[in-house]
Amino acid sequence: MKTLKVGIIGFGTVGTGVYKVLQSFPEIKIQKIAVKNINKKRNIENFNYELLTDNPYEIVNNPDIDVVIEVAGGTDPAFDILTTAIKNKKHIVTANKELLAKKGSELFQCAKENNVIILYEAAVAGGIPIIMPIKTILCANKIHKIAAILNGTTNYILTKMAEKELSYETALKQAQELGYAETDPTGDVEGFDATYKLAVLSTISFGKKIDINKIYREGITKIKANDIKSAKELGYTIKLIALGQVLENGEIDVRVHPMLVAKKHLLAKVKNATNSIMLSGYPVGDLVFTGAGAGSEPTASSVVGDLLVLASDLEVTNNPIPLAICRHDEYAEQINIGDTYNEYYIAITAGNHPGVIGLIGTICGQNNINISTIMQKGINEDNTAEIVVITEKSKESDVQNALKDMLKSESIKNIDNLLRVMN
Ligand SMILES: NC(=O)c1ccc[n+]([C@@H]2O[C@H](COP(=O)([O-])OP(=O)(O)OC[C@H]3O[C@@H](n4cnc5c(N)ncnc54)[C@H](OP(=O)(O)O)[C@@H]3O)[C@@H](O)[C@H]2O)c1
Repeated sequence: MKTLKVGIIGFGTVGTGVYKVLQSFPEIKIQKIAVKNINKKRNIENFNYELLTDNPYEIVNNPDIDVVIEVAGGTDPAFDILTTAIKNKKHIVTANKELLAKKGSELFQCAKENNVIILYEAAVAGGIPIIMPIKTILCANKIHKIAAILNGTTNYILTKMAEKELSYETALKQAQELGYAETDPTGDVEGFDATYKLAVLSTISFGKKIDINKIYREGITKIKANDIKSAKELGYTIKLIALGQVLENGEIDVRVHPMLVAKKHLLAKVKNATNSIMLSGYPVGDLVFTGAGAGSEPTASSVVGDLLVLASDLEVTNNPIPLAICRHDEYAEQINIGDTYNEYYIAITAGNHPGVIGLIGTICGQNNINISTIMQKGINEDNTAEIVVITEKSKESDVQNALKDMLKSESIKNIDNLLRVMN
């Protein structure tokens, strides 16, 4: 049997998982592994430290390596390292969503020019197979909607806030203690990680390049225990949702933000660090893919899966399959958040005055917003009242104008939160 010779760049959570899984595949030979700190002790039995290098260019310039597995992360130096590998005619398997979201266009162009392929199943939702299904068996479809939970850390925090009635800060601390959140959790809690994954997923689903800078993004740091409680009373749970949809006029609405999700919705049932992706397309209808969105072994499943696809294809035809050649030359027409239509949850602190509910109703009406539920949640010690409003589908810019109008009135003390709703 022919062997496929690989070099691995990165030997952390994913890299060590890939190494372990590859021990069962003698047809794949690991030639070299690049790390940052060559003196670090690696927690692997009988590990041959001679495999390690701290110079990734030793891998990408090695004529004896067919495929480079990049599981180091970041854009710098990953972009230069992979570009060098591609120019040296090496196929790439990567889990690096940030690099693909920010520099995918250039990388795929370079891969096209050099007749090599880039596979990246692990970059979106770790162990869940989603890239390959979209590119292969779903290719008869026009996908028009993605609604997904793509970040396990934030889903874990929101689950604990709902189930144990914890504050955001306490839930985050627990997530950090259990290793679900990093010491600096910004990438997860501010929605960057989900945005990178959504950019990759939307590009292949909708067949157009997605500009990451035009994806509206909001994280979960502003979600308060009160919002979770009000959502629960109204029959919802709060989730960080990655949403991509093709509008009737062909424009594309792509965004990541928290949403109140109706309890009956499948995404509301996705708990803890689990990820889930709902795809809607024609002719297939609705599909749901759920599972481990991260972790050493689940992610290694995707990386090694890509590698085996590549290995089998190279062996059979000696030519790469055209799966990962990027054919999306045009950018999508992406719309601004102000032009999107949603149902909304608005949490308001108002003076405990007669007519304040009527005032909120009038301001909403003046801004083309129909209210579907309005609820006063008791009176605070300072004689203010907490009011929660759920609207019918309205335009975001109208809602933002209504909030500004409300704040002009002395009766409205604060807009505590504005969240979008998914039924
Ligand atoms: N963790 C997951 O569950 C998961 C899931 C899906 C996708 N991903 C993606 O997979 C990639 C790796 O994630 P991870 O969690 O495995 O990261 P990690 O645990 O932090 O490991 C990163 C590895 O890269 C090495 N490294 C960093 N800079 C390097 C450089 N300049 N040259 C060579 N090696 C370098 C580090 O070396 P040292 O060991 O010497 O520090 C370390 O071994 C990221 O793109 C991430 O987004 C991760």
